[in-house]
Formats: sequence, structure tokens, C-alpha cells
Amino acid sequence: MNAIASAWQNLAQIKGRTLADLFEDQGRVAAYSTRFELPEGAIQFDWSKTHLDAELVAGFEALAAAADFDAMRAKLFAGEVVNPSEGRAAVHPAMRGAGNLAVAEEAEALLARMGMLVEAIHQGALGEVKHLIHVGIGGSALGPALAIDALARDEALVDVHVVSNIDGCALEAAFKACDPATTLLAVASKTFTTIETMTNAASVLAWFERNGVDDPSGRVVALTAAPDKAVEWGVDETRVLPFPESVGGRYSLWSSIGFPVALAVGMDEFEQMLAGALAMDRHFESAEGFANLPLRAAFADLYYTHIRGCQTRACFAYDERLRLLPSYLQQLEMESNGKSVTAEGKPVTGPTAPITWGGVGTDAQHAVFQLLHQGTNLVPVDFIASIAPGDTLEPAHHRILLMNCFAQGAALMAGRASEDGARTYPGDRPSATMLCEDFDPATLGALIAFHEHRTFANAVLMEINPFDQFGVELGKEIAKQIEAGGARFDASTEALLEAAGLG
Ligand code: F6P
Repeated sequence: MNAIASAWQNLAQIKGRTLADLFEDQGRVAAYSTRFELPEGAIQFDWSKTHLDAELVAGFEALAAAADFDAMRAKLFAGEVVNPSEGRAAVHPAMRGAGNLAVAEEAEALLARMGMLVEAIHQGALGEVKHLIHVGIGGSALGPALAIDALARDEALVDVHVVSNIDGCALEAAFKACDPATTLLAVASKTFTTIETMTNAASVLAWFERNGVDDPSGRVVALTAAPDKAVEWGVDETRVLPFPESVGGRYSLWSSIGFPVALAVGMDEFEQMLAGALAMDRHFESAEGFANLPLRAAFADLYYTHIRGCQTRACFAYDERLRLLPSYLQQLEMESNGKSVTAEGKPVTGPTAPITWGGVGTDAQHAVFQLLHQGTNLVPVDFIASIAPGDTLEPAHHRILLMNCFAQGAALMAGRASEDGARTYPGDRPSATMLCEDFDPATLGALIAFHEHRTFANAVLMEINPFDQFGVELGKEIAKQIEAGGARFDASTEALLEAAGLG
């Protein structure tokens, strides 16, 4: 048996304790809760309401050692190949200044170029610009959508509409909200080939033309790792903002894919977001074992998936500004770690990523929390909240919001006995809380980078490659075969195609 298998065997033999038992220890909260300092403010990462204890932590630290976690982390930051199936590095930390110096310098130069274009647009170099239609999908849309929704609520410098879906209803809604004469188009695609994005981009150009805009292609900015393709498509080189090929799509918010964020909130705020992420990079790169917050979170994640058999993990943002975080995390975690083979291509021996899901508090309490409290699934829950309010209404709003957030974690843990089964709460249900002092661009950057590194740490301990996504290819190929015509499929698919007039 190799060292990894024996670390797992050891973990499986540890007799877990209940949360109530763990909380007998007066030092529990101090030991499992850490204040993470940011340039301004801090985030409290409270993992005390999980079942991790000293024995489990030691077991997971042994697993991390067996999986060569330190060496893999060093490779990530050095810009070495960590994506073996594609022979690529994963240089997203360098986009915010961490890790490989040469890549970080290249990233800084690219960012400066993006900053100049953002500044020029704000100064009127492309005429009056009130709106931006940003077309992109997956990692080319979810990050910008999240960051803009979180940071540009009050006074966006430019009104940005992120359109991802090929369903024309999405683009039509953006057309209704924008004036073509004062709108720019950003085409965000790492590959510059994704059919949804290229079709939407062409439709925006047609909309410009239909509405008498002079020089529609002069209104286009391209954000891509394939600059030649963007130029070929008709975007002037001066408005092509490239980023390195080894930045993965779902890790690309920090590159030129963040252009719409900078346009909406200004380059300063965008850079603060990078600074928050960099602070998390520095922590993740240097903190050892349990003291390392993303690694600590991965220990808990793996305990629940591998030892307790949990098939999902939920994230509830008790902050309207983070309402898009669950869908962002779905791509980050499920596209990265939803794998069945190890990084060496062998079948995995245990489960990989659980299903990530979630929503906003307090809405979710009145919809799905029933299952969390009394259902037969054990679902580890993450809560995210900010002590400072994001609104200027009566303080009662924020007070009630926070009280509910903390009440849910307490209720999940404590449960309540009753003679009546329907009124029994089993309790001993885990949660983790990320409590931000305030919510600003640096906090958002740190929170996202925390989740990126948590995903990486999980992958290393599961021995999988988080940086490829071949699972998405087969469906794309079959869609192309349908479009080309002539291919035959199963009887159900044939009947559906026939019914829709596509057969
Ligand atoms: O199909 C999945 C995917 O490749 C994601 O990984 C990526 O974020 C998305 O499509 C968009 O790709 P692109 O940025 O190349 O258009």
C-alpha cells in the first residue's frame, strides 16, 4: 500500500467526535478560527463548527505530506507544469504578482496596457461610452459578472451587461437596456472560438449596423489568449487585450478578462481586488499545514466527501452583493475537480468534487434550509457575511440579516430533541463561516483566491489535475455533428430533433 492509501486508511479509522463533544473544549473557537488580515480590514475564517479535531488534522497533514502537497504548491507558484494532460502551468497567481517573476512581470505589463485602454475610454477616446455589452461564457463571464454585481452597485462608471447564453433572449435583454450609439462590445474568450460567444458577438455587430453606428468594429475590445484570432475576426490590434495561455478560463478574472470590471469600477478598485487576492496567495504559498486556510478548508471538505460520504457542499452568502458567488464557485470547483481519473490518468479510488450549490441568505432559509436541518443528506455549509452593511437603510435590515446567518449555523450544530419526530432536529450538522469586517474589492479578491487555492489543495490531496476540463468536449462535438447533419443518434435524441424540426 502506498503512503497516500495508508494515510486514507488511517483517516478512515479515526472515530469522529460530535460537534457538541468538540465544543466541550473551551479553546475550540480560538484554535479553529483564524483572522486573516487584509491591507484594510480582515476576514474571520471560522472552521470550528466542522468535525475537524486534532487527530483528524494530524491524519490530513499526513495525507498532505504523502501527496507531496508542499512540492505541488511550489510548482504552482514557480509556474511549472501542474496541468500534465495539457502540458501547462497554471499562472493565475502571477496575474496578481505572486509566484513566477517573469510571468508576474509580463502580467504587470499587460495590466498596464489594459489600464491605459480603460483610462482612455473613461476620458472619451472612443466617444461617449455609457454601456458595455460583455459577451463571454463560463470563466469568461462568471468572474466579471460576480465582481461587477458585487462592486459596482452604487455608481458604475459604465453600465455593463454580461451576456453569456446563446439563447437570444439574453442578448435581447441587453439590447433593450443599451443605446447602440453609446455602447461598446467586449468579446471575452480565451480561445476566441467558443460558438456561443462568437455568435453573440456577431449579433452585437449586426445590432450596431442596424442602428446606424459608424464603424461597428471600431467599438469592439477583445479579451483573449488567442490575439491573432481576434485580429483575424476584425478587432484592431490596439483593442486586443491578450492574456497568457496558461491562465485557465475559470481562473482568468485577474487577467484582461477583468476589463469590464475595471471599466465599471475603475482601475484602482480592480487593482485593490488583485491586492486582496495577492494577500491570500502569500498566505497560501507560505503557511504550513493546518495553519494554511485553504488547506484547512480542504481537510474539512475531504473529511465530509471521503469519510462521511457527503455528495454536496453548499455556500450561502448572507450578502446580496455575493448572490452570484455560488454560480461562480460551481464552475471553479466542479469544472476543476469533477474528475474520475488521477493526474496520471489512472481511475480514482475515492470520490472527487462534491456538487457545489447554494444561494443567498435569508432567501434560502425559506426555501431549501428544511433539507439542511432535517433531510437525510448531510450537507456541509459555508456561510459568508460582512459585519459592515452594504446598504444605507435602517440598521434593522443588516442586523436581522447577520442574526439569521449566525442562527442557522448554531441551529445546524445544536439541533433539538423532541418527542415528535417531525419536530426533531438531529443537529451535529457542520458549517464554516467567513465573516468579513467590511466588503470591499480586496475582500472579494481574497475570498475568490481562497476558493481557488482551496480547490487546488483538494485536487492535490485527491491526486487529480484541477486544470483541465475534457468533460465539456463531447457534448460540444455532438452539437457540431447535429449541425453538420448526416449523423445518427439514439432513438430518443432522434425523436427530439425531429420534433424540433432539426432532424
Ligand atoms: O466549455 C468549457 C470552457 O472551455 C470553460 O472552461 C471556459 O471558461 C469556457 O468554456 C469559455 O471558453 P472561452 O473563454 O475559450 O470562450
